[in-house]
Amino acid sequence: MIHLTIEDRDGNRQDIEIPEGINLSLMEVLKASEYDILATCGGMGICATCHVQVLEAPNSLPPVNDTELDMLDTLPEAGPDSRLSCQLRVNEDMEGAIFKIKGESN
Ligand code: FES
Repeated sequence: MIHLTIEDRDGNRQDIEIPEGINLSLMEVLKASEYDILATCGGMGICATCHVQVLEAPNSLPPVNDTELDMLDTLPEAGPDSRLSCQLRVNEDMEGAIFKIKGESN
């Protein structure tokens, strides 16, 4: 199991467990865990509503890709720890990471 901690927009934290080898993006996992994520573009990296902030990442996450960078640049509230959760595959390297949900809600 991969263990992540998710902080919602109200600051409440919850631990979630994801089976290894599931091959989903973090956005898909968050939606499956019933977090309110719009993901309007369905994970194509062009809506930015799946914006998360990486609060902690014990292992380094894959670098920001070009699509992601372009989109994050359009977000006034994005910072150096910002990621698009649809561009992050959940795998063992994410073990112990803490993400805060930032994107706009419904
Ligand atoms: S779901 Fe649209 S950018 Fe991630």
